[in-house]
Amino acid sequence: MEIRFLKSPPERISADLFFLAVFQNEGEKEEKTPARLRSGDGGTALDKLLGGTLSAAIREQVFAGEEGSTLTVNTLGKLPAKNIVVVGAGPMGRFRLETLRRIGHAVAQTANRLKAKSAAGVVEPVRLKGLPNNRRFQAFLEGALISRYQFEAFKKKRKGEPHSLQSLTFQFSGNPRPLQDGARTAEAIIGGVERARHLVNTPANFLAPKDLGKAAAELAKKYPAIRCEVFNLERIRKERMHALIAVGQGSENPPVFIHLKYTPPKKAKTRVALVGKGITFDSGGLNIKTREMELMKIDMAGAAAVLGFFEILGRLRPAVAVEGFIASAENMPSGSAYRPSDIIDTRGGKTVEILNTDAEGRLVLADALDYACDRKPAFLIEMSTLTGGSAYAVGELMTPVMGNDKKLIAKLIAAAEQAGEPAWELPLYEDYKKGYAANTPADMKNSGTGYKCSCINGGLFLSEFVRDTAFVHMDIASTAWAEKPLHYHTMIGATGTPVRTLAYFLLDL
Ligand code: BES
Ligand code: ZN
Ligand code: ZN
Repeated sequence: MEIRFLKSPPERISADLFFLAVFQNEGEKEEKTPARLRSGDGGTALDKLLGGTLSAAIREQVFAGEEGSTLTVNTLGKLPAKNIVVVGAGPMGRFRLETLRRIGHAVAQTANRLKAKSAAGVVEPVRLKGLPNNRRFQAFLEGALISRYQFEAFKKKRKGEPHSLQSLTFQFSGNPRPLQDGARTAEAIIGGVERARHLVNTPANFLAPKDLGKAAAELAKKYPAIRCEVFNLERIRKERMHALIAVGQGSENPPVFIHLKYTPPKKAKTRVALVGKGITFDSGGLNIKTREMELMKIDMAGAAAVLGFFEILGRLRPAVAVEGFIASAENMPSGSAYRPSDIIDTRGGKTVEILNTDAEGRLVLADALDYACDRKPAFLIEMSTLTGGSAYAVGELMTPVMGNDKKLIAKLIAAAEQAGEPAWELPLYEDYKKGYAANTPADMKNSGTGYKCSCINGGLFLSEFVRDTAFVHMDIASTAWAEKPLHYHTMIGATGTPVRTLAYFLLDL
């Protein structure tokens, strides 16, 4: 996307589409009232130039300015732009970065619908709700860029309309440098989100563990600040990652373990570890899935988030040191598959009795967490499509998070909120440990019995393998994939969650 900044007034900017935003009147309940144009983004001035047609259209159609809603008005040749789109910003009291993302998305969608190649608007030089210009601008662009993603790699003929919008022009009277930085950050973040979405959307016959390894190696080739090591089965054996081997032994596609390392240009204040679940297909194993197996190509979404975030690191080169760890295997039933009742070793030394071969994520993660903790990071963020139960806990619009460090959890949740990927804490309530630690000849079982909280159970199990490292677990089983269009994810499929959360948390650490 070409992005330009100009000082000229809106009526002199030539673009196919002009955009502005209106707030919904506060306190509005049932009866809608028409929203008011504002002077800050050139709304009232443009209305004057158009002889009041803009405000008349808002009045007549009772355009209330609900968040993300749009009203398109033709300028009848009175302006360089053929159309003006008025976008609803919702009530002023509820304005946040996510509002801007949804506005940016509405503008891009309208432009594409009208086949407009260029769009223009005003960046208001005011501090809205304490949000500086560059942050607001970045969020707007994230929204505008996020919907350009299409997954058409497997269509012989492209079906989706190619997006027409190619350039965005902003009228801004101040120094555009901070905005240019905001634009660069938004482009990088959405680039990372797209990488993750693409990996998650790709089916398992095109994405085996070795292909995740290839994707990591590509990143290392593309960005000199990124190093990558992909362990094969022999090396995995040497590393004593017995649980990863057990999960992968039923498949013709051998497991891999990926170690990524990003070194910042300047000395870093913090060293962070990211761990991702990389099950490229989860059939359930011998406890074969009877429901939703066709969704299980997404079981590597945690790994995809790690790779997506490394894309962002490579592009932006922030001053934080990050290592990424991915345990990848394919969970399949076969004559060589691991069985319910098997007792296996883990890298950390604890033994686990397999009660259910479908609770495989926590096994490969046990080894990955143990390996990551050896590197002594300041803290560790682990991401996995771990339990179907996460959907029952907080639904598909929020990611449940758990951890052993209150401050870390609070910071992650705050970043998730800013990023527009809301998260909610669930308790690692110790009494539930009995569910998997009792009645077994091993140190523990891989699935809890007796308690109904499978999402918390998963988090508790993982917490057994992090020693004293500050750690937070994000269960993205219900947020990594949109079953229906969702905000700016107009396409059913991978959302890229939680790549944006990582970016908002770690880029300015
Ligand atoms: N990969 C699944 C979890 C999942 C479910 C991801 C739905 C995405 C969408 C995981 O490996 C699994 O099967 N979990 C079991 C655990 C149980 C056997 C303890 C579950 O959640 O039912
Ligand atoms: Zn499973
Ligand atoms: Zn799984």
